[in-house]
Amino acid sequence: MQGSSGDPLSGDTMTDEIWRRLVARAPDAAALSPLYGPLLSREAMVLGRIAQSLDGRIATESGRSFWISGAQDVLHTHRLRALFDAVVVGAGTVRADDPLLTTRQCAGPSPVRVIVDSERRLGAGYRVFQEGPPTLLLCAKDIAGPDRLGHADVLRLPRAAEGAGLDPAAIVAATAACGLPRIFVEGGGVTVSRFLAAGCLDRLHLTIAPLLLGAGIPAFTLPGVARPEDGLRVGFTLHRLGPDLLLDIPLVLR
Ligand SMILES: NC(=O)c1ccc[n+]([C@@H]2O[C@H](COP(=O)([O-])OP(=O)(O)OC[C@H]3O[C@@H](n4cnc5c(N)ncnc54)[C@H](OP(=O)(O)O)[C@@H]3O)[C@@H](O)[C@H]2O)c1
Repeated sequence: MQGSSGDPLSGDTMTDEIWRRLVARAPDAAALSPLYGPLLSREAMVLGRIAQSLDGRIATESGRSFWISGAQDVLHTHRLRALFDAVVVGAGTVRADDPLLTTRQCAGPSPVRVIVDSERRLGAGYRVFQEGPPTLLLCAKDIAGPDRLGHADVLRLPRAAEGAGLDPAAIVAATAACGLPRIFVEGGGVTVSRFLAAGCLDRLHLTIAPLLLGAGIPAFTLPGVARPEDGLRVGFTLHRLGPDLLLDIPLVLR
């Protein structure tokens, strides 16, 4: 399965070529290399992504997330879509945003859309199921139903042994088996947290916007720890994206 590039190049050569095309018209191309360089020339990779407020929210209580971060961060998201084979979002994001998940703000190809909806609660009316590039809908093995939803192909995967939902490692393996080894997990918080908790993220791009929402949907939902020293302390490289700060966080895969 391929996104909408139709590009004859393949593997990491294609990613490097896409990157060259993405920055060809960017005046700040040299300054962008430290941010995008670690994402290139890797055949397989899983990148998680969150744009949160200062108080750790990715959307208001009613689920509105447009816009937490600024224009440069939104452009960054579109560039990431172009640099990965597949973009993964949870059912909550499809329900709240009805997104297209295409690369409308930059020159690169659109990825294959992968929607995680273990119980198959989403209807066929959402845009990812009706228009745009190829789409995969991932649900649990034990859920009955047709093999297509709108134009999406349905893949059935094992449930996680612990906790809720599908096993993130099985999601990574299944997308790789479909010829999509580079995965961009764009949200929301539940989905990114499940990949993080399962040790399935190579990196996390966490944008922090100078904004307080007071209440809303949390960025991370993870098992609690007894003491601060038991938490996951990470290293990071800091990048400025307009008014926002982006932490590029390398993670250790399990
Ligand atoms: N600021 C940002 O960076 C950003 C990015 C994207 C979205 N958003 C916002 O975030 C909100 C949605 O986020 P959210 O955290 O509530 O939900 P979400 O992560 O989009 O979706 C959560 C749901 O997705 C399904 N799911 C995710 N991972 C799964 C797994 N490993 N196995 C099985 N099912 C899985 C489950 O659906 P079921 O329970 O139905 O099985 C789960 O309840 C929306 O308001 C959206 O606007 C913000």
